[in-house]
Amino acid sequence: MWNDRFAGEDYLYGTDPAGFLVREAARLPVGAHVLSVAEGEGRNAVWLATQGHTVTAVEGAPNAVQKARRLADARGVQVDFHLADLDEWDWDAHSYDAVIGIFIQFAPRPFQDRLMAGMKRALRPGGLILLHGFAPRQVGYGTGGPPHADQMYTADLLRDRFADFEIVQLRDYDGQIAEGRGHTGRAALVDLVARRPG
Ligand SMILES: C[S@@+](CC[C@H](N)C(=O)[O-])C[C@H]1O[C@@H](n2cnc3c(N)ncnc32)[C@H](O)[C@@H]1O
Repeated sequence: MWNDRFAGEDYLYGTDPAGFLVREAARLPVGAHVLSVAEGEGRNAVWLATQGHTVTAVEGAPNAVQKARRLADARGVQVDFHLADLDEWDWDAHSYDAVIGIFIQFAPRPFQDRLMAGMKRALRPGGLILLHGFAPRQVGYGTGGPPHADQMYTADLLRDRFADFEIVQLRDYDGQIAEGRGHTGRAALVDLVARRPG
């Protein structure tokens, strides 16, 4: 399904990074080692690499990874792209300064919970998680995201899942997004930045 969505020449969510990432990236240490989860066609990983970070990106759709590699080449940066199913990913293989998950609400809650648990384990002590997605009221806006309110984030849900982390930023708000034909218009958004203790 995802692979078919990425079959065209255009970039479904554009080639510019998510506004959330641009706003929050100043929190990353210089030359951070970052893991991007469900990276898609490369817009976020490639931008982070242009900012001097060392980026590993994992994505399950071959067409998306191919286009992400093309985008990295076009921007003259290196990203360590992996074509993999996130349910098979070895979260303990490396310890990252930051892990990002931008619009990764593609799965029902049990899979999302496994993802969040893995992302937390992949962080070094003191490392940051940057998570950005839709709130339940997004369903009905028609501007992107899965049509399932129970896959969306609420502040309470994230507070619960990151109870063992320091919450640096947690916002639920409406904003305008312009991210390719996949995400355009008024959107109900949730931002989380949280730090692994230690
Ligand atoms: C809404 S897109 C977001 C892409 C990207 N993070 C962005 O913001 O441009 C969700 C992504 O999750 C990927 N995905 C879905 N299920 C996956 C899985 N089991 N393993 C790896 N990637 C998966 C899709 O291929 C798609 O690229």
